[in-house]
Amino acid sequence: MSIKIITCKKSRIDKVDFQNLSFGKEFSDHIFITEFDGKNWVNKRIQPFEAIPLNITLSALHYGQSIFEGLKAFRDINNQIQIFRPKDNFIRMNKSANRMCMQEIPEDIFFSGLVELCKIDNKWISNIQGNSYYLRPLMFAIDDSFGVHASENYVFAIIGCAVGAYYSKNLKLKVETEFSRACIGGTGFAKTAGNYAASLLATKKANKEGYDQILWTDVIEHKYIEELGSSNIFLLYENKLITPNLRGTVLDGITRDSVIKLAITFGYSVEERVISIDEIIQLHTSNKLIEIFATGTAASVISIKELSYYGHSINLEIKENNLASKLKNKLEEIKLSKTDDIFNWNFHVKI
Ligand code: COI
Repeated sequence: MSIKIITCKKSRIDKVDFQNLSFGKEFSDHIFITEFDGKNWVNKRIQPFEAIPLNITLSALHYGQSIFEGLKAFRDINNQIQIFRPKDNFIRMNKSANRMCMQEIPEDIFFSGLVELCKIDNKWISNIQGNSYYLRPLMFAIDDSFGVHASENYVFAIIGCAVGAYYSKNLKLKVETEFSRACIGGTGFAKTAGNYAASLLATKKANKEGYDQILWTDVIEHKYIEELGSSNIFLLYENKLITPNLRGTVLDGITRDSVIKLAITFGYSVEERVISIDEIIQLHTSNKLIEIFATGTAASVISIKELSYYGHSINLEIKENNLASKLKNKLEEIKLSKTDDIFNWNFHVKI
């Protein structure tokens, strides 16, 4: 496939403090971009990271046809670049595209875009512990029309960003019982912009009350847990790891899937099923609940220290070397090629 390369005049990399990276602010020098013109993906190019001309009428702004992905590239201990499970992001992106009635992205364009961006901006992929290169593929509708219908024209782009940890401390969660995120038949499983927009008010309210994040519950009774604002959730009791099943309202997290597979290799039994708040309270009251943690590409694996439901708080002691940290370390060892990649998760980018 032919990709036009237009390089930036001057790199911004010297201005970046790689020792103190936050999440989602240090965009690398280039982006990959292509447009769908109703028939073909055209004008595939790598270009400098800069503002792009767009019309105020573009339908993504009005009717919300906008989807994205999040995945990470790492510089491993052999100085090689590895992207973690990109095929899974590719598959999920097209599931989101189908749900939002958008154009599918072909596999060769998705992969060539990732590879070319990682190659041209490879200096942004640092080997400092805890850092990675976050890749954000996105697609949005660009038809100029106020008629409510699926757009015929789209932009697909990939942005790269040097990032550190998403969360710097263990989390305090509020179980959300007023607002709802997703219903059966809705868009909960899709990685679409509107799901995140719908989460903001509840999250802002929870933040004001002193919580870091919300834990979404089902829309009908607000009794069954689903996911956090930007990650999936797991609970550990006895030798059992449980997580809400994917029922159309929960994002099919790639870190969620990696954690399920790794936990099984650690000897845990894993159940994907309906989990009620009452069950969690009962497990805690009977001293059976050992750990709760969240998983996500941005968040990795992060422990939950408190869960609050209508003012009833469950406090959990975070032990060193708990399952969350073992899983996090194992994932990191795989991504950095410190251990065997037994599931074949790493995708190597040849520079
Ligand atoms: C991710 O973990 O990649 C996410 O999409 C979460 C968030 C930063 C929106």
